[in-house]
Amino acid sequence: MSDRGQGDRLRSWLRGIEVFAGPLPDFAPEQAPEDPVRLFLSWLSDAVADRLRDPHAMTLSTVDEAGDPDARVLILKGVDGGGWQFAGHGFSPKGHQLAVHPRAALTFYWPEHGRQVRLRGPVTPGSAQDNAEDFLARSATARAEALLARQSQYLADPAERDQALEKALAMVEKEPSLVDSAWTLYTLSPMEVEFWQGAKNRVHTRLRYERTPNGWERLRLWS
Ligand SMILES: Cc1cc2nc3c(=O)[nH]c(=O)nc-3n(C[C@H](O)[C@H](O)[C@H](O)COP(=O)(O)O)c2cc1C
Repeated sequence: MSDRGQGDRLRSWLRGIEVFAGPLPDFAPEQAPEDPVRLFLSWLSDAVADRLRDPHAMTLSTVDEAGDPDARVLILKGVDGGGWQFAGHGFSPKGHQLAVHPRAALTFYWPEHGRQVRLRGPVTPGSAQDNAEDFLARSATARAEALLARQSQYLADPAERDQALEKALAMVEKEPSLVDSAWTLYTLSPMEVEFWQGAKNRVHTRLRYERTPNGWERLRLWS
């Protein structure tokens, strides 16, 4: 088959995959709370209650020195009035990117509920104590892996990594209070938080909270 024929078949196959299968929940923005944290926690609780997979996984988008975007999935570590928290190694690409451009976006998607939440704002690293507490709450293997400080570097020889990991694990087991000083608990303090409720008929409902000097303003958006 020609490239064009194959492309057409692929496009038609993609078009045929169902999206927003439902049944999807209703969202009444006029009844939304004043604080986006409350609404976020209610949507997250719905995802947990319905046993959706990895409900606290989110995409963190950053930009590098050249202004090129980058994105990856991380786990949500906490949410409060200060913002949304995630953790990672300061020497990783995302760590470098956040050091150069301390601003980011977070995106949650719960497909079974047709719900998306988007946040944008400045990112600040945690205090040494916050970072250490987060690090020490990780499993021994996760701590050993972080201590290698080589995340996202080229891996020429998996055996070299396995040996290094074994050594780091022995170190962690010998000294359980050992902390990697580059491990960082970041907080994204959103300037805006959007709640997006999908609908089968494509008339999606969108509500954006924008931070103002007097608190949060709530604005409806066209879908
Ligand atoms: C479900 C899921 C959860 C993840 N959680 C984390 C996390 O909490 N912290 C982290 O550094 N990487 C996490 N990762 C790995 C990242 O997606 C990414 O591969 C890694 O952080 C390297 O990213 P970087 O090269 O952009 O720095 C997770 C991946 C998945 C799929």
